[in-house]
Amino acid sequence: RPWRATILTLYPEMFPGPLGLSLSGDALARGDWSLEARNIREHGLGRHRNVDDNPAGGGAGMVLRCDVLAAAIDAASGAGDERPRLLMSPRGKPLTQARVRALCAGPGLVVVCGRFEGVDERVIAGRALEEVSIGDYVLSGGEIAALTLLDACVRLLPGVMGKAESGVEESFEAGRLEYPHYTRPREWEGRAIPEVLTGGNHGAIARWRRTEADRITAERRPDLLGAAKHHSAKCPTVRG
Ligand code: ADE
Repeated sequence: RPWRATILTLYPEMFPGPLGLSLSGDALARGDWSLEARNIREHGLGRHRNVDDNPAGGGAGMVLRCDVLAAAIDAASGAGDERPRLLMSPRGKPLTQARVRALCAGPGLVVVCGRFEGVDERVIAGRALEEVSIGDYVLSGGEIAALTLLDACVRLLPGVMGKAESGVEESFEAGRLEYPHYTRPREWEGRAIPEVLTGGNHGAIARWRRTEADRITAERRPDLLGAAKHHSAKCPTVRG
């Protein structure tokens, strides 16, 4: 059965959006994964289908009602649905490539997209929503964060990416940023491809790439080198 994504949002028109194109779009058309975007407003209250209200205790902005969101979740994901339920939120635990790996190995996802100033805290506990952030900045809603999460997952599904091996050497998979890439022409605007890459010595090429990956990681993301210590021993940076 295909990997199944259900999105709960006030803007279902934002899906599949860019995921309807390119590799993920082709995979969607093939049925390698499925996407269902459901409008939370269908469970809104009254003639105006209200979904939000003023924050208890006062303050600016509006809060998504717990009863409305719970009804949307229950309609989209019944008992026996084994999929993790995530809430996209800048308050969430930061998304990592390791988490993406785990999620794409599972049955799929139910993703709630936050809007307004927040979601009533009680539905987060009451429906076991796990808050996930895509980074330390604030988007205007969870939709673009959900698209980002889905893109990261879908590209790892079997058969979606062009080359089967191209997933294992890339940034983060070995706890390192990637080494630099080059292609023709050999010289361009006075800049030559590093000689080692055109010399045909595959051992030397692998060593050069490892060194470059370490150098770039130390320069840009020293935090990765600290965090990857125990992991890097059994997980070489590049093949060979
Ligand atoms: N919604 C708004 N900002 C977000 C972020 N950084 N990550 C996930 N969801 C969000």
